[in-house]
Amino acid sequence: MKHVKVVSIGVLTTITLAFLIYVAQYSSYDFPVWSFSEADQLEDVCEKPVHRDWSAGNETLGFDALLALSRGTKWRVDGIHAAAAASGITVQIPPQPGWSEPFIKAFQDFGPVEAHGAAMAWLAHIDLLKYVIAHDYGSALIMEDDVDWDVRIRNQTVLIADAVRELTGQRREKGAPYGLQWDVLWMGHCSDPPNADDPMVVFEDETVVEHAKYRGLNRYITDVLPEGRRSVHHSWNPVCTFAYAVSARGARKLLAQASLGKGGAFDLMLMHACQDKVVDCITVNPEIFDAYHPAGGDISEVRAGDHHEDIDTTVGQGMGSTDNILRSARCQGLFGETCLTNA
Ligand SMILES: *[C@@H]1O[C@H](CO)[C@@H](O)[C@H](O)[C@H]1NC(C)=O
Ligand SMILES: *[C@@H]1O[C@H](CO)[C@@H](O)[C@H](O)[C@H]1NC(C)=O
Repeated sequence: MKHVKVVSIGVLTTITLAFLIYVAQYSSYDFPVWSFSEADQLEDVCEKPVHRDWSAGNETLGFDALLALSRGTKWRVDGIHAAAAASGITVQIPPQPGWSEPFIKAFQDFGPVEAHGAAMAWLAHIDLLKYVIAHDYGSALIMEDDVDWDVRIRNQTVLIADAVRELTGQRREKGAPYGLQWDVLWMGHCSDPPNADDPMVVFEDETVVEHAKYRGLNRYITDVLPEGRRSVHHSWNPVCTFAYAVSARGARKLLAQASLGKGGAFDLMLMHACQDKVVDCITVNPEIFDAYHPAGGDISEVRAGDHHEDIDTTVGQGMGSTDNILRSARCQGLFGETCLTNA
């Protein structure tokens, strides 16, 4: 990320420069927040990532854990493991404690969702939030088990962490590469058209899909950003919970909210909770996690749960495709190929 506008660098002595870098890393030196209107004038800025926190690019992407929400369907789990290996990250798939049928039915009747599968999905999110709290994680990323990401994800998250701290005015702090001023980091969604009046931190990222190939429910982000740029901003209208990170505080707030059983499907509940500022949400846009569409067409676990289909055998074999992910970790891991939808 090229945030730091170092003016007339030539007049600075080496000592002053070293001091600036020191200050930038360890104190409250303020960096300018860039808006997208400035993004085209990035040529002359210092590329030195003076305040970069590389721990956001570690095996758990700077969080305490990466957790996949899964009922263990083979093609999904195989894909997660293959993608994790291809991109050098460690994803846990905690066993789901499970809920009794009468309980699921009762939850279905009591509240938020009519479909049996969607009720189960909702309860599974609750289980994982409890898992995060029980393990006392400072932060964790929760992903659905059919998601995909780029093999370069560890590079992506370093830039994102930097941008999130910039957006929230946080300095580098050990053990918290994304800072501490957020509850939910919405990293995988099917679009979140940002509010043009809200602050937005924009950065160059070679892994961003070109606009013509972007697929999302709403394409507004491609009007807002120049090509080859990603952004972070406060969540405005995000849909689909492909992947979201929670801070420790976020996990507690979200669990409390989810347990009310209100608001439609889980992702809609989360969207409303973000919009109503019940939780403090930041969106990565375009998203870095997206749904993998298996070769056999889209057969979601939610629907499969409703129809008790055994979809395992057919779906795992052929290569599917993923929207918006240039170098799919799943397809790299399973087939040694890229599989951008309609590329
Ligand atoms: C990640 O970034 C580093 C440093 O810029 C670069 O050397 C490396 O090739 C990148 N990794 C991938 C997988 O692109
Ligand atoms: C990755 O970095 C985060 C933040 O510094 C840390 O909490 C986590 O334990 C690290 N993960 C690994 C596998 O070292």
